[in-house]
Amino acid sequence: MSEEQKQADNRARSTTDELRAFIREGWAARRPTVQGPSPAARYAADRRALLSAAYPRQRLVVPAGGLKVRSNDSDYVFRPHTAFAYLTGLGADREPDAVLVMEPFDDGGHEAVLYFRPLADRDSDEFFADSRYGEFWVGARPTLEDVELELGVTARHVDGLVDAVAKDAGQVTVRVVRDADRELTERLDDARVANGAERETLAGSDDALAHAVSHARMTKDEHEVEQMRAAVAATREGFEAMVAALPDAVANGRGERWLEGTFGLTARHRGNGVGYDAICAAGNHANTLHWIKNTGDVTEGELVLIDAGVEVDSLYTADITRTLPVDGTFTDAQREVYEAVYAAQEAGMAAVRPGNRFSDVHDAAIRVIAEHLHAWGLLPEGVSVEDTLDKEHGQYHRRWMVHGTSHHLGLDVHDCALATREEYMDAELRPGMVLTVEPGLYFKADDLKAPERFRGIGVRIEDDVLVTEDGCENLSDAMPRSADDVEAWVQRLTAR
Ligand code: GLY
Ligand code: MN
Ligand code: MN
Repeated sequence: MSEEQKQADNRARSTTDELRAFIREGWAARRPTVQGPSPAARYAADRRALLSAAYPRQRLVVPAGGLKVRSNDSDYVFRPHTAFAYLTGLGADREPDAVLVMEPFDDGGHEAVLYFRPLADRDSDEFFADSRYGEFWVGARPTLEDVELELGVTARHVDGLVDAVAKDAGQVTVRVVRDADRELTERLDDARVANGAERETLAGSDDALAHAVSHARMTKDEHEVEQMRAAVAATREGFEAMVAALPDAVANGRGERWLEGTFGLTARHRGNGVGYDAICAAGNHANTLHWIKNTGDVTEGELVLIDAGVEVDSLYTADITRTLPVDGTFTDAQREVYEAVYAAQEAGMAAVRPGNRFSDVHDAAIRVIAEHLHAWGLLPEGVSVEDTLDKEHGQYHRRWMVHGTSHHLGLDVHDCALATREEYMDAELRPGMVLTVEPGLYFKADDLKAPERFRGIGVRIEDDVLVTEDGCENLSDAMPRSADDVEAWVQRLTAR
């Protein structure tokens, strides 16, 4: 017996035939887990239709992915692969091991088939004895009929998947989104090769599909925009709760965790989750860009930078940052830095309009950052604003803002990750795109090139904007942003 088997065995209990007979009987009739079509179903059908037109007579395979072990026999909460969520409309924790197959018709078009693990019957051992999938342990999954009603697709048992995908892989081009489920992809590769496909061609041909789904997400449909609005509104509530909790965060040790907990609690109270681990960075921690340890104290007189986003059930997430004076008033130095970042953000937002390129947003914001650094005398001797903005020989300003100003936002916090540079950075902005505008300035406490008054100050302001026909709409506009408005916000919500 292997060590793993011994370990798995050490808490096992015997299952008798008497128990089997007893446990399968005496239950009320099952109620359907699904009441009707999902609100996302028809949008997902439109998204599949676009993909179908791009890949006639080819079989497209989009796995949700499987459960991931967190430790020993405990799994992480399941989160489907983004391509799967986009093309099915299924969201939070749906559906481990499911696979969407777009089965081609000979004369064009596809049938959407969802292979998944349907609810097991009550006379199975899985029903009561399988701690990973069984109804006694993780609840009832949907049936095949449930999923057909919910999504308007054909539903089949996942046991038939590999054969259905690979049966004629020598004749039909089969493309798989490979990174969704590595283990399944290996099995599908072997089966495809066994049925006549050439192993060397698989990865390259597959990657085109993942790229297409990533790129398709760049402009959002009306359902996606509605979900983004809901995520932003819920994020605003979470920020308001954190602002109100600042005195408690100061009074309790590890106040950064107090803020993080307050955000998560507010998200949960409204039935949501978070799209990424919140950054709650007080004082000099704000200068660590991805500070998610959140182990620090929150202290009066300092700033706290909070970068957090609620993810709604459909998996759309907001991504918003506010930098707050903990006691409600910026010091002169804090305000000086804050106003510079605010001016950069205003310039960035003004550049968000159709016809401008994505990279124009960063160019507009970073110019303002560079102008301030120059005016403060921080660039090397003789280096002008134009010199530092020179992409070949300059870039000195990046010492204080090393990240970009924007990214696409949606199902993934950094959405559309597989789009090419031409499709992303160099592409023109189009109505329906959703992006962040998030300049910052970061003066580390040990930065001897920074003026002493700025050392330990880090500021970022991040909003989520929707590109419209003639400019943009700031989806997070209801959250105070200017220095004066932020001060008033903190003072109002912390008045006891
Ligand atoms: N929260 C990560 C980012 O702002 O990109
Ligand atoms: Mn962020
Ligand atoms: Mn961001």
